[in-house]
Formats: sequence, structure tokens, C-alpha cells
Amino acid sequence: MKTVKLGVLGAGRGAGLAQAVARVPGLALAALCDADENRLNRAAGEDVKRYTVYKAMLDDPDIDAVLVASPMPLHVAHSVAALKAGKHVLSEVTAATSIEQCWELLEAVRSSGRQYMLAENYCYTCFWSVVSGMVAAGLFGTLYYGEADQIQDFKAGVPPPETGYNWRTQELAMRQGHQYITHNLGPLYTAFRERIRQVVCLGSGQHHLAWAKADDTCVVLLETESGRLLRIRLDFFSTRPNNYLYLGLQGTGAAYEGPRAPGEGHKVYVHGQTPPGSWQSLWDYKQYLPPEWNALANDPEDDTHDGGLAVMLSDFARSVREGTRPPIDVVDALNLTAPGLLSEVSVRRGGAPVEVPKFG
Ligand SMILES: NC(=O)c1ccc[n+]([C@@H]2O[C@H](COP(=O)([O-])OP(=O)(O)OC[C@H]3O[C@@H](n4cnc5c(N)ncnc54)[C@H](O)[C@@H]3O)[C@@H](O)[C@H]2O)c1
Repeated sequence: MKTVKLGVLGAGRGAGLAQAVARVPGLALAALCDADENRLNRAAGEDVKRYTVYKAMLDDPDIDAVLVASPMPLHVAHSVAALKAGKHVLSEVTAATSIEQCWELLEAVRSSGRQYMLAENYCYTCFWSVVSGMVAAGLFGTLYYGEADQIQDFKAGVPPPETGYNWRTQELAMRQGHQYITHNLGPLYTAFRERIRQVVCLGSGQHHLAWAKADDTCVVLLETESGRLLRIRLDFFSTRPNNYLYLGLQGTGAAYEGPRAPGEGHKVYVHGQTPPGSWQSLWDYKQYLPPEWNALANDPEDDTHDGGLAVMLSDFARSVREGTRPPIDVVDALNLTAPGLLSEVSVRRGGAPVEVPKFG
């Protein structure tokens, strides 16, 4: 098996992903790049090349692929540069921060002939992998409704703009709509396997940070190509317990609801198997967890958002090695990102429906 050599851009989130590379056969960490030399030196191991200039890492012929873990507004510029340098790209979320960037990325991937995958780790959590296995096996019948919550008190992560540039403030506090939607839409999209046709969004107003433009809470309604309904709530501002992994799914054959508070379990109702009017534990259906999950991930009941990182990295490495379509390719990445960008347009128009462009 040819080993794919990975260069990582960004020593924040990128450093955590770089550590998970060690668990993936056929993938090796070759280099780490960060303009902040202190951060780079703290994160890079002895045997890893270090770059402070991104272009220098892209010029390294020893590197096959780049993990782009720079700030969100730079993902497209950094992905396009890597593709032009002949590298495959695994990009952190979200794929782009404007619709113009979406089209630029699509064109760059298509003309490069290289692989591009979105590193949407929420699609790879253990519990969702079980749910996805049940969907694939037909237990849910026809899906028609899905929901997700991203409720995460993030006030401390978004300093006021006058204290200096911070990309999180710019993208998450100074913009309305759901600018981080891939975490929530990603898992639902992998279950429904349909692009979003139109988006509606309304917000609650802002009641915590006087300077912020984002609503405390916004609710996004999404209609899929064939008319199925998704509901996503984003809240980065409320003072309350977090709940950023909640997902729910409804089909003609089964229903799933995730925990909403610590101590609660993942519950599932399967028509014909679960006693009517009651729930079962999702873990009663653990046999639907894909085999590679057990082989690669640490703990088969790891409930965290990063529980399936090794499986995600392994999927990317395989697509590079075998030249096959990655599980979340560029069209999927844009289908996940654009509805969030357009939710901002909807909220500005008082909740009017906004059509999502077709990328593929
Ligand atoms: N999937 C997840 O669960 C998850 C979690 C956290 C962050 N993220 C994503 O990861 C990305 C990075 O997040 P973060 O928390 O590490 O942000 P961060 O701002 O802490 O780190 C970004 C790093 O990129 C470096 N950088 C920026 N431009 C550069 C350039 N041109 N050349 C070299 N280095 C450069 C900066 O010096 C900085 O160290 C974001 O897009 C974020 O959305 C995803």
C-alpha cells in the first residue's frame, strides 16, 4: 500500500488532526505549517518537517496532500493554492465563506484532477455511524424529517471587533444565519443523500453582546430536492448548558433522537422491533456500526464529535491512493456549505425562501 504523505496547514485544530494521523494505516504526517513559529514548534514532533510559509510546504515534492486547517475565510484560497500545486486537499469546515468562493473552489477542483474532501467530522461520530448503518440497511424506511441543534455558549470565543481581527468574530458573531452549518447539516445530508433545494431562516435578535450582529438563536428550515424537511437550530450566545451534537431522524420505519443533556442516552424506535410507545437504546443496534469504525477508532462508544477522526482520515487517504470519489467530495462540500451562507440572505429578507444553486 502506497503511503499518502500529508502536510498540515494550521497548528490549532490542525495539530489535533495531525495526531490522529498516527492511527491511520497508509497515511503519514510529513509536515506541519503555521505562520506562528511558537505555535508550530509546540505542535510539531521531532520527525515532522516544519514550515512557516505555506508556499514552501506546497513546493515540497515529498507531500501528496494538504490538510487545510487555517481560519475559515482562508479555506478556499489555501485549497485552491494546494490544488494548483498538484496536491490533494482535505479541508476543515466550512468549505467556503461566500457563494463566489463556492464557485471558485468547484472550478479549481474540477480543473486540477486532484481529490478534494471536506473534513466534516460530525458525519463520522460513532452514534451517527450506527444510525447511518441502520438507514443503509433499510430500518428507517423512507426518511422524511431530520433535525439538529448546535447550541454552544461561544461568547468567550468571539472577542469584540475593536480588540483586533479574529476570524471567529467576523464569521460567527458579525454575520446572521448559520455560518457553521456543515456540522449539523453534514450528518443529515449523509442520511438523506439529497441536496438542499431551498432555505428559510429566522432569528431571535441579539440579547447578549451589544456589538454582535448574529442572532442569539436562529432556526434554519431546509427543503431537500424531493421535498423532505430538515430543521436546524444554531445558538452560540445563550447562557445555558451546551448541546451541539443533537440530531434527530424520522422515517416511515424508525425514529432516532439523540441526548439533549448529560446522562441521557441515544434512543431509537424501530417499527416491528421496539415495543409500541417506547424507545430502545441505540446501542442495541451496534451491529450496524461499519467494521472499519471498530478497526480504526479508539473507543466504539466514544460519543464525542471527534470519535471517528481516524475513519475520516482513512476515507480521504483511500480516495487519494485509489483515485476514487471521496465520501464528502467538493459537490457535497458545497451542498453542505451554501445553505448556511444563504440562510443569512433569508434572515435579511425576513425569512423569505432562498433557492440553493446546483453545484453538480
Ligand atoms: N471540525 C471541528 O470540529 C473543528 C474544531 C475546531 C476548528 N475547526 C476548524 O478548523 C479551522 C482552524 O481552527 P483553529 O481553531 O485552529 O483556528 P486558529 O485561528 O486557532 O488557528 C489557525 C492557525 O492557522 C495559522 N495560519 C493562518 N493563516 C496562515 C498562513 N497563511 N500560513 C500559515 N499559517 C497560517 C494561524 O497562525 C493559526 O495558528 C477553522 O476553519 C475551524 O472552523 C473545526
